[in-house]
Amino acid sequence: MTETLSSTLAQIFPWPRPVIDPPAAYARLRAENPVVRVTLTGGKRAWLVTRYDDVRAILADPRVSADSRDPGFPNFGFVPAEHERSFLRMDPPEHTLFRRLLSKNFMVRRVESLRPDIQCLVDETIDAMLAQPDRPVDLVEHLALPVPSTVLSWILGVRAADRAFFNTAAEELLNATDVTDPEALPRALRANASLRAYIGELAAEKQAQEDPGDDILGRLVLAARDGVITHQDIINSGLVLIVAGHDTTASMTALGTLTLLQHPDQLAELRANPALIPAAIEELLRYLTIVHLIVLRVATEPIEIGGQVIPAGDGIIPLNLSANRDDAHYPDAATFDIHRGARDHFAFGYGVHQCIGQQLARVELQVIFETLLRRIPTLSLAAPVEEIPFKIWSPINGVLRLPVTW
Ligand code: HEM
Repeated sequence: MTETLSSTLAQIFPWPRPVIDPPAAYARLRAENPVVRVTLTGGKRAWLVTRYDDVRAILADPRVSADSRDPGFPNFGFVPAEHERSFLRMDPPEHTLFRRLLSKNFMVRRVESLRPDIQCLVDETIDAMLAQPDRPVDLVEHLALPVPSTVLSWILGVRAADRAFFNTAAEELLNATDVTDPEALPRALRANASLRAYIGELAAEKQAQEDPGDDILGRLVLAARDGVITHQDIINSGLVLIVAGHDTTASMTALGTLTLLQHPDQLAELRANPALIPAAIEELLRYLTIVHLIVLRVATEPIEIGGQVIPAGDGIIPLNLSANRDDAHYPDAATFDIHRGARDHFAFGYGVHQCIGQQLARVELQVIFETLLRRIPTLSLAAPVEEIPFKIWSPINGVLRLPVTW
């Protein structure tokens, strides 16, 4: 191990992700030390798993748990109270109950049936963006955030008019990991409380109705009425869906646009042949791996992997971002290539917790990019990349603003 790698390993994890690429140490770890123990913000220790095959093996291993109540669970930043645990942090069969309850709302056919409405929404949103009196325009504010937040309001049953509130609260919650800002954690705690109070109110309104509707909150309210889950479960599930359900697709839209603008030849190819857009989105998902520090696990038995034995009770961080940049699986992985055919990436995770909203995210991104490329062919970046504010500490990578012009 060289000096630089040892000094990085001595630093508290997570290491900041400055821009689109992963922290430089990930490539070194894959080559030299693929399974390694680090100290996390907050003092816990956990094993980083960095190679593609090892990440897949860990995420499919029944000796690995996602239960955040386990003392070894590798929490960092904001640590939710035990009663605030959502199904993201549960194991089967407890986890399976929630996936079954929610799967109907995320089935391919149901999601595809939303495509025409999503198309109208994207067209209206782009109309409004084009009508802005001044340029540059912030693509995050005028396209990336409004579209997934509005779609989320349709499927979850939150009010579209409350978008500004839940956009900001989710952002503050995720920013708890910013170790450079002493206010980040208190702000995240307040955001957590206000989001929970908000979902609790919406659930109570629905509980008072005879037919709470077939959106997700309505479905959860019915399950609580039948005694299958509790009121607290509705709040916990609602919270994870609000946070995971809009900031992710928003970040993919903003960073995806930035990446395409940085690769003008491939962008021109997509404009000339929009049939390539779905494959390009898979490559964007792999290349960007925006949800890069949410997949956390703990070993329930000793596990031998990558030349190490992870003892029972130790935390594990399967680095999906590192796996998606593993040259052993994706030749020349650091290169963005829309012809790669990268459908087997881990941008949505892998195994039982694999993203429940992935088909919805794909449909939204397909409509957004197809429409954006067609309707604004001269779109360009209105600031040097160095001046774009990246969310360098967030477990979901993204940008705060993306100034564009046309
Ligand atoms: C889980 C990524 C969009 C809801 C996950 C996981 C990843 C991920 C990596 C796995 C977590 C783990 O293994 O611990 C993404 C990305 C998205 C996206 C990159 C957008 C491009 C969405 C949307 C929704 C959603 C649109 C809902 C409307 C969820 C939920 C889970 C999850 C509820 C937890 C699933 C479980 O634990 O069973 N997502 N997601 N995500 N995602 Fe997404």
